[in-house]
Amino acid sequence: MPTFHISRGKASAIDCDVLAVPIFKGGVAGAGAAEVEKALGAKFKSLLAAARMKGEPGESLLLPGVAALKAKQVLLVGVGEKGGGSAAARKAGATVGRKTGSSANVATTIPQAVGGRAADSIAAFVEGYLLGQYRFDRYKANGSKPKTKTVTIALSGRGADDAAMRKAIARATIVAEGTAFARDLTNIPAGDFIPESFAAEARRLAKTLPLTVKVLNEKELRAGKYGGILGVGQGSDKPPRLVEIRYRPAGAKRHVALVGKGITFDSGGINLKNDGLDWMKMDMGGGAAVMGAMLAVGKLKPKVAVTGLICTAENMPGPTALHPGDVITMKGGKTVEIGNTDAEGRLVMADGIVHAVENSKADVIVDIATLTGAMMIALGDKAFGVLGNDQGEIDGILAAAGDAGEKAWQLPLYDDYRKKIDSDIADMKNIGDRYGGAITAALFLKEFAGDTPWVHIDIAGPARSTVEEFETTKGATGAGVRTLVRWIESL
Ligand code: BES
Ligand code: MN
Ligand code: ZN
Repeated sequence: MPTFHISRGKASAIDCDVLAVPIFKGGVAGAGAAEVEKALGAKFKSLLAAARMKGEPGESLLLPGVAALKAKQVLLVGVGEKGGGSAAARKAGATVGRKTGSSANVATTIPQAVGGRAADSIAAFVEGYLLGQYRFDRYKANGSKPKTKTVTIALSGRGADDAAMRKAIARATIVAEGTAFARDLTNIPAGDFIPESFAAEARRLAKTLPLTVKVLNEKELRAGKYGGILGVGQGSDKPPRLVEIRYRPAGAKRHVALVGKGITFDSGGINLKNDGLDWMKMDMGGGAAVMGAMLAVGKLKPKVAVTGLICTAENMPGPTALHPGDVITMKGGKTVEIGNTDAEGRLVMADGIVHAVENSKADVIVDIATLTGAMMIALGDKAFGVLGNDQGEIDGILAAAGDAGEKAWQLPLYDDYRKKIDSDIADMKNIGDRYGGAITAALFLKEFAGDTPWVHIDIAGPARSTVEEFETTKGATGAGVRTLVRWIESL
């Protein structure tokens, strides 16, 4: 991973392989451009016109350097409208990260050009840069890891508080690291990542960070009557786990529990899926987001107690699998009729939520899961849905998502719809009817939160991307990590 530095000198004087310079909408050159134009002896305007570059986010144009310039190459980077702030810095950072992976030393004036607090735009640029440069290459014979060693951020006088800027860089690096960790875990194929892998990764985290780990294996799950996790896992030869990661700082006034869905492969079970099965190694994006958030929490050390819970199992068909029509008893004693074995996420999550209430005794629970295809139909594939039983806590999550640059939208939790999940023979059923599937799934979970303030995040859409777009890379996205970390810091 590259290191980031602040420089107060002139951008044109920085010795580097690539100097990234901002171009606003309409082809208006931003900070640092004038010095570079002077050294090049050419105006960007005509170059931009020839290349049909308009200054939109995502656009870039690489120019060769000249003797009068210390940089070997110049990268013109679209930053959109003036005053774009952190959002513009994040996007531009990602573009620069993508384009400069083969360069050892990179410099840029972009953070000083976008407006807003210097520390904020620097942090967003760094986050975008690192996330845009992310590569999952462990199955490639010739790895494609970026070679960037240093990124110099030229401020030329702006923002006096060096300590605040260094802190912003350190924080952004940690958050990007947590997100990359979540992406890595989620990208690993199901053949190489099983429920026990979550336990192993959690123990590895705890070796170097102020975290403790407790793993419930199948025997302990049986003793604790975790009927949901056990039921979903019973068709697989890879036994399920409940992985608990604790962070307990001195003087914490609040205790939050993060509960993540860690289905390492969702075949659908006996209600076997016939579509999108290649996606289903990623049905652990919520669990991975909790892992990524715990990594960041362990490094940022906020004054909030955090319990991370990963409900992990493999949902497979087989002679020992749950049957449609079975009735299982969940942790806490509620019974559930299995209407569809493919609605497995809510079963494992319900046990995790009850554990958070009864065992962890958390003040507030946030669960995160690739829970429903219905949420993707409702919000598309770039936004996550938010529902819960406490509007104040929901607002906190929505605000954190806004600050973190993740798209989030609240859906209603209509009590009227509760009857859709009534069962004739058990306390409830794990499916509703054709309509409002994201809401009925959340209503199911609500039953298990009881009186504890609870927020549900359905990341089925944004957990995976089929395109490279700004800080989002193809494959697992680490959706939710940045929001969870922001939210914890805001408490
Ligand atoms: N993991 C899926 C949800 C999902 C689907 C995530 C597509 C990402 C992409 C979940 O376990 C599931 O299968 N849900 C069913 C529920 C239905 C059977 C009530 C769904 O959404 O179709
Ligand atoms: Mn499913
Ligand atoms: Zn699933």
